[in-house]
Amino acid sequence: MNVGISGIGTYLPEKVLHNTDLELTLETTDEWIQSRTGIRERHIAADDEFTSHLAIRAVENLVAKHGAAILEGVDLVIVATATPDAYFPSTAALVQTHFGLKAAAFDIMVACAGWVYALNVARAQIIAGTSQKVLVIGAETFSKIVNWYDRNTAVLFGDGAGAAILEAVPNGFGFAGFYWGADGSGAKYLHAGALGKRLPTGEPLEPFVVQNGREVFKFATRVMPEAILGAVKNAGWELEEVTRIVPHQANARIIEAASERLKLDPNKFIVSIERHANNSAATIPLALEHGINQGLITQGDKVVLVGFGGGLAWSAAALTWAY
Ligand SMILES: CC(C)(COP(=O)(O)OP(=O)(O)OC[C@H]1O[C@@H](n2cnc3c(N)ncnc32)[C@H](O)[C@@H]1OP(=O)(O)O)[C@@H](O)C(=O)NCCC(=O)NCCS
Repeated sequence: MNVGISGIGTYLPEKVLHNTDLELTLETTDEWIQSRTGIRERHIAADDEFTSHLAIRAVENLVAKHGAAILEGVDLVIVATATPDAYFPSTAALVQTHFGLKAAAFDIMVACAGWVYALNVARAQIIAGTSQKVLVIGAETFSKIVNWYDRNTAVLFGDGAGAAILEAVPNGFGFAGFYWGADGSGAKYLHAGALGKRLPTGEPLEPFVVQNGREVFKFATRVMPEAILGAVKNAGWELEEVTRIVPHQANARIIEAASERLKLDPNKFIVSIERHANNSAATIPLALEHGINQGLITQGDKVVLVGFGGGLAWSAAALTWAY
């Protein structure tokens, strides 16, 4: 059986925060942020807008694009998020009830690698026969856990959501290979605390995003090529066959480094970081939809999705685009 993505929708909150706005509150400049990261602006959720609201908006966008029938028969909802509304219920259950779906629902928390992790889990459920149609959402409100006084992190993140439907697709289309991994020894380099006061290794946990930018940069430039190659190999493809790569959008320089290491044409990489920054688990669906809207991803394209981030964790999926 072939499982693929049959539709996608996204949502970005109304409020746009430009680099020039950050110049007013942080010791930073638009020039620094653009040249060091590629980011120009990010969207910020309203005070009373939380991750479930963004997820619901992304599903509404999916329905607006593909028609209401796209939700018919959805029997599992997975939300990848590191910023849930509540410890429980899951954000997925809030989406499930909003749309009146007769579906199981759960969240997975793998930060920026979360959406591609969720795709892997969803595909496995369909192959196993436990589910027929899965709604896989990445939704985040990192603006609520960012330390707005820390220029090292505050400039990098934004809020957003993306939702996709996974189901059986015709032969020759859909997922061909996955690759994933985690290394919790890197927790000290990137984390945001919840109930714990310290990591098991002793480092204090703060209730906001803490990052060692240089270490995460090194990790990202190493693991992104590794994950791309891993997914391509597991798909039985050659790297040269890949037509598009949709990478996590954390820093445009990380994407450039990956294209150099793999000796791949940089134009094969979808880059949309400029207008939405890093949205953690929502980033890849946002970049994917950007690629589709630009006409850069069409039916039959051989696409690799690749995420990395807090965990540390990484994930990649190789798929032939189905519509
Ligand atoms: C965070 C990051 C953009 C910093 O860029 P960089 O070029 O590595 O910058 P450095 O960390 O070497 O810092 C260089 C200087 O810029 C400063 N700086 C950091 N953020 C700044 C900002 N927003 N504005 C101005 N200066 C800034 C630093 O304080 C440092 O100053 P110093 O030399 O006086 O100490 C980069 O390391 C990065 O992208 N890392 C990976 C982040 C990532 O991928 N995170 C998400 C994973 S999902």
